[in-house]
Amino acid sequence: MNDKQAFIDFILDHYQNPRNRGALAEPDIVMKGGNPGCGDIVTMYLRLDGDERIAGVSFEGEGCTISQAAASIMTGKVLGKPLAEVSQLGAETVVDEMGRELVANRLRCATLALNTLKAAGKKYRAGQAARSAAEAQIEDF
Ligand code: FES
Repeated sequence: MNDKQAFIDFILDHYQNPRNRGALAEPDIVMKGGNPGCGDIVTMYLRLDGDERIAGVSFEGEGCTISQAAASIMTGKVLGKPLAEVSQLGAETVVDEMGRELVANRLRCATLALNTLKAAGKKYRAGQAARSAAEAQIEDF
């Protein structure tokens, strides 16, 4: 995709028809990320296989179009990847995917899900990951 309208259509499609939305059954990690600027929250659910590869991923959340579309897009990007690889992903991953022109001024919204996923990996490695939404504390990004 290289024109603005295509990026807009792509973002709107993920917002209106989110992929992998809803709580995941028996997650290994539940992580809530908040944008303190607006109060929006994204909850990421992850299930891992024996090699710390993401075998299942979903999200829940309420928020702006960009944050919710980004969460949907990220679930597709990280499924099947090892946690270690996800921890290396930078903001450009999501910015390039969603169109720099559209999200450059909305970086916090665009990277909320990504930062939540990266923090989920960190918590898991530290043995501090929540395994239910009720247990998960909101971390601000
Ligand atoms: Fe809240 Fe975008 S305005 S995450």
